[in-house]
Amino acid sequence: MYVEEETSKGGSSKEYKRSRSWSRYPPGPTSLPFLGTILQVNFYNPHLSFNQLSKKFGNVFSLQYFWTNVVVLNGYEAVKDALVQKAEDFADRPYFPRYEHLGYNKCCEGLIISRYGPAWREQRRFALSTLKNFGMGKKSLENQISQEAGFLCSAFSCKEGHSFDPLFLIKKAVSNVIYSLTFGERFDYDDEKFQRLVEIFQQAMKEETGFLPQLLNEVPFLLRIPGVPQKVFQYQRASMSLVDEILNKHKETWESTHIKDFTDAFLQEVEKTKEGVETSFTYENLRLVAVDLFSAGTETSTTTLCWAVLYMLLHPEVQRKVHEEIDKVIGRDRSPNMLDQANMPYTNAVIHEIQRYGDILPIGLPHMTYQDTELQGFFIPKDTVIITNLSSVLKDETFWEKPHQFYPEHFLDADGQFVKREAFLPFSAGRRMCLGEQLARMELFLFFTSLLQCFTFQLNRQENVIHDKSSEGKRKDKERIDQVLCESWIPGCLVFLHSLPEEVKGSIVGSEDFLMMLRKMHQPRHHVQNLGS
Ligand code: HEM
Repeated sequence: MYVEEETSKGGSSKEYKRSRSWSRYPPGPTSLPFLGTILQVNFYNPHLSFNQLSKKFGNVFSLQYFWTNVVVLNGYEAVKDALVQKAEDFADRPYFPRYEHLGYNKCCEGLIISRYGPAWREQRRFALSTLKNFGMGKKSLENQISQEAGFLCSAFSCKEGHSFDPLFLIKKAVSNVIYSLTFGERFDYDDEKFQRLVEIFQQAMKEETGFLPQLLNEVPFLLRIPGVPQKVFQYQRASMSLVDEILNKHKETWESTHIKDFTDAFLQEVEKTKEGVETSFTYENLRLVAVDLFSAGTETSTTTLCWAVLYMLLHPEVQRKVHEEIDKVIGRDRSPNMLDQANMPYTNAVIHEIQRYGDILPIGLPHMTYQDTELQGFFIPKDTVIITNLSSVLKDETFWEKPHQFYPEHFLDADGQFVKREAFLPFSAGRRMCLGEQLARMELFLFFTSLLQCFTFQLNRQENVIHDKSSEGKRKDKERIDQVLCESWIPGCLVFLHSLPEEVKGSIVGSEDFLMMLRKMHQPRHHVQNLGS
């Protein structure tokens, strides 16, 4: 129920109603002319601003980004009520004019930011069933990931004796998995073309962070100024050109009798479509869906695995227990497989805790209300942008015993058995929840256990970390690292980043190099020389 609106912008009155007009609309800070409440939000760390604002305005509060009405949901109860209890009401996505220069428009929306409707449903079903046909959740993909984990371990062992940034190697391993599902091949890690692709996608993701993309979305005519998209989104454009190259090759070699990957399967649907039939299976849409799968499937698992390495460095006692469980259940003579998971409650709990505490998509992806709705006594009209503060769920103080600490016991019962927790929502929930969850879980388990089966991760303290060797100095250093970790996150617009935050790197090694001294893969772990202190 709402009182008649005033419109703040010409055009569709429905879209630009000012939030103050509604009774029982969620409360929020005072809105300034034109800017709305954007000054209240740090766009590099929006979840931190939201946590602060929720203390004042409650778990459901409103903001205004220029002309757009935004409602932010905080804590497990509010997020669950919206995404699970009122799944359809909250299943839409806002429209993103800032992607129009890449071929996105109201008739061609890809998958991730597709509006809730027949085209999204068609693409989501197709993606799920096709990824399953190519092995998602099955033994065939498990074998492929295991093999990739072997390549990753070999690449790590080549760095013997030197500290290095593991990000790019992990990213290449993870990219290979989704690349081969989507485009049918994998690359050697030193392949130049692959190197370029991985770097361009990484830079493209960086272009998503901060305030500028938000501004261009709200004031899209700025993108019509000649040269602006080329300058601001040069890597997103470059990544699209690379995908075009890959798809053109596919089109040239495509055979209906030999469907070897997601792209071939999509092209088959394009072929099947009769003229005049409305469909989302078009070549233009394939470009967007392929980019969606590749970027969603790379950044997320990569970032989580980087956090995994970092937490093992910082919590040697946890790492030791994982090693013990691996030695007991798998041993050193065979590769880990998914059946092992059921017998490895501690490792499973550690991986869950890495995801909970790592909190890599702190505000998930934006949703939008599909119809007028009510939530926790508030009225939220159709077309309101909804931000789910997933970070506030993963660190909800009413649910987690030690929300702001790395504590694998969150997922263990008194007998040391693994327990699921309902507030564990890194993949979100409801209609738009992560489509790649099964794949991601398989990757996290197999890559993590394979790395830990082969290596001990240690801070390279001799090089940089502890300058003050007294025990007081060490304590302070540890506190500093913990503090940085608590405060840092992986920023981004919608929201990720590709690397560990600079402050974290800086606080640990104080140099360009990343964190660790790796020991030789083939050496049994207990022979590893401790370079620690
Ligand atoms: C650790 C790994 C991952 C995490 C934490 C993660 C998390 C998420 C989250 C939070 C969302 C937004 C859900 C929402 O809007 O409520 C999402 C959506 C999505 N994810 Fe993932 N994801 C991961 C891995 C993957 C992988 C490997 C793929 C590859 C297939 C993937 C594909 C997608 C797609 C296509 C969507 C959009 C779904 C839709 O709008 O219908 N994700 N993911």
